[in-house]
Amino acid sequence: MSLRRPLQDLCHYQVMWNISLGPSIACDTTNAIYKFNLVHADSLMLQDIGLDASMSCFTANPQDNPKVTYIHFAESPTLSFCAFCFPQSAVIPLHDHPGMTVFSKILLGSMHIKSYDWVTTFDSNEVTRMPNGARLAKLNTDAIFDATSKTVVLYPEDGGNLHCFSAVSPCVVLDVMGPPYRPEEGRDCSYYADSEVVRVGGDGQYAWLNKVPRTFEMNGFPMHINIRM
Ligand SMILES: [Fe+2]
Repeated sequence: MSLRRPLQDLCHYQVMWNISLGPSIACDTTNAIYKFNLVHADSLMLQDIGLDASMSCFTANPQDNPKVTYIHFAESPTLSFCAFCFPQSAVIPLHDHPGMTVFSKILLGSMHIKSYDWVTTFDSNEVTRMPNGARLAKLNTDAIFDATSKTVVLYPEDGGNLHCFSAVSPCVVLDVMGPPYRPEEGRDCSYYADSEVVRVGGDGQYAWLNKVPRTFEMNGFPMHINIRM
C-alpha cells in the first residue's frame, strides 16, 4: 500500500475535522478519524513511508545517547503527518498533546508506551493539584507495542493524552496529529516527570506529574510527498 492513499483521505477528512470544531457534530469527526484508522493506518508498513530498517537513523552513535530522528511528511492547518525513528533504547520523554487527537502506529520494532490522562472529574474531596504545581493523572497504558499492534489513538481528554515512548528495539512510529501543535493557539508541547504510583484502586493507578524543561533533542528532516494538502 502507498502512503498516497491515506494522505488523500486525510485531505478529504480534514474538511470534516474543520466542521467538527462546532461541538454539536463532534462525533462526525470521530467517525471520520476512525474510518481512516480502520481502513488505512492498521495496514501501513514501513516501506509505505519510504523507510527501511537498514537506515542509519536506527543505529545509535556509541559516543552519544541514542537519538530519535523526526521525519516531517506533511502538514495542513488541521493535520500533521510525521514519523519518529528510534535506535534501541532511545526515548521521547513524557509529553502532552493539549486539545489534540493523535494516531500512533508502530511500523517497525517494539516500543514501550506509558501514557496518562489528567484527572479532571474526581471526587470533590480528592486533591488533584498540589501547591508545587503537580497534577494528578490516571495511568492509561503501560505496555509494549510492535508492528502487529493496532493503531493507538489518544484524544484530548482520554486515551492516554500524555505519553512516553521508549524503544525496546530499533523502531518507527507514525504519528497523525490533528490539529497540529501550535503554541499561539494554546497547543504547545510540555514535558513531565511522573511520580511513583500513588494509589492503586479498583478503578486504576494514579501518579503525580510535574512539568519539567525539555531536555532531549531529536534529529529532524522534512520529506516532501507530492500531494496537495
Ligand atoms: Fe506524542
